[in-house]
Amino acid sequence: MSSRETKILVVDDDAAMREVLQLRLREWGYGVILACDGREGKKLAENGEPDIVISDVIMPYISGMELLGLLKSGNPARPVILVTAEASIPQAVEAMIQGAKNYIEKPIDYSRLRELLEEAEQEIDLRRESRRLAGSLEKGAGFGEFVGASRPMREVYNLISRVGASDASVMVTGESGTGKELVARTIHELSPRADGPFIAVNASAIPENLMESEIFGHERGAFTGATGVRAGCFELANRGTLFLDEIAEMPSALQPKLLRVLEDKRVRRVGGSREFRVDVRVLAATNLPPMEAVEKGKLRRDLFYRLNVFTLALPPLRERAEDIELLADVFLRQFNEKHGRSLESCSLETLELLKAHPWPGNVRELRNVMERAVILAEGPRIEPSHLPESVLNPGASGAGGTMKISGGVTAAEAEKELILRTLEATGNNKAEAARRLGLDVKTIRNKLKNYGIQ
Ligand SMILES: Nc1ncnc2c1ncn2[C@@H]1O[C@H](COP(=O)(O)OP(=O)(O)OP(=O)(O)O)[C@@H](O)[C@H]1O
Ligand SMILES: [Mg+2]
Repeated sequence: MSSRETKILVVDDDAAMREVLQLRLREWGYGVILACDGREGKKLAENGEPDIVISDVIMPYISGMELLGLLKSGNPARPVILVTAEASIPQAVEAMIQGAKNYIEKPIDYSRLRELLEEAEQEIDLRRESRRLAGSLEKGAGFGEFVGASRPMREVYNLISRVGASDASVMVTGESGTGKELVARTIHELSPRADGPFIAVNASAIPENLMESEIFGHERGAFTGATGVRAGCFELANRGTLFLDEIAEMPSALQPKLLRVLEDKRVRRVGGSREFRVDVRVLAATNLPPMEAVEKGKLRRDLFYRLNVFTLALPPLRERAEDIELLADVFLRQFNEKHGRSLESCSLETLELLKAHPWPGNVRELRNVMERAVILAEGPRIEPSHLPESVLNPGASGAGGTMKISGGVTAAEAEKELILRTLEATGNNKAEAARRLGLDVKTIRNKLKNYGIQ
């Protein structure tokens, strides 16, 4: 049941019928407005903003059927219940097709009517809730910058809005490209710290020897090359949020230091003697299931427990294929804008392919595929020919796929090919590619450097 009173408009030319309905509805706790014919009904529906309409079918001036049509074009989501006399049953069938919520026959079975109203209310509550969550998003099918209305994503939105309000640490988990950083940003934006800074550090993107000064800062002359003073991420994130991305890639020597800062809320710069008090909320993310990272010795157990006050697990895109079409559509519009194009949509065949693809690189991969397609496409629609090989032919590359190696190729060449393909399949995520190949991220980084690739 909704918290505020649900308002029902009753449209009926029979005064006695109106009175009886009004009495019952008031008794059940509803607010009631009455209209004596379709014309008045239309006016009151427009001005009185009823949540639900109950209308007779056979009335002077505007019939219930016509009224239904008018109501549905004004507010397609508002439930309408038609009350039909036997003579108007064929019209009631028509009404179902036109989108009346339901119809009920005269003489009215009041317990059935009550059921219908409760169903309608539930639907209204659900819509209100999702509209609230959708917040700024104009399409009404997401949450903040998130797109997707699947059940697992709605649960994610729900959790984000709950933890956002708190000051708790959150561990965000999920495969590469599922939106972990977007979650962290959104939590920050919904939190009381929203006016403070949001600082993200990616532990797999920073060379190990620079990590400590990156996080804690350094004083002049702390090490060779430390020519100036540098504030670390904790200081920069003061009164805001620090997002520690790929936390399992954090060098193990640094993890106890990190834990100490989290507990004491004080940092000391590398080579410094002063301590700074910091007021920082910490969010962390990992591609590995965090317990697996703990068991493998990549993430210290005590640090894990300190960070994992809440866990927010993002579902891979292949487990919410119903979001693919919507995401593709939103990306199409974004890239139209960015590249000055005016593509209308994906062709049906393209959509089928997109829905069938397993998306190992998740939303990031879909986003990249759509950008490429928007650039390539000439006509009004994105056709399969604008999709990359990996989507057209999922077995050919990527994780779990096969890779043909012809004779005469050196082991080093084959390795390069494998690394590049895995990177492609993971949307260029080195940590995820490393995980899939059973290599260290550092190894991947070094090899890319040797290939001359950034
Ligand atoms: N549900 C979503 N709706 C719209 N955009 C999304 C959604 N999820 C992710 N994105 C977009 O996809 C891209 C990848 O998201 P993000 O960087 O948050 O992923 P990630 O989980 O941090 O990936 P990685 O593990 O590779 O760092 C970003 O451009 C992000 O804005
Ligand atoms: Mg990320």
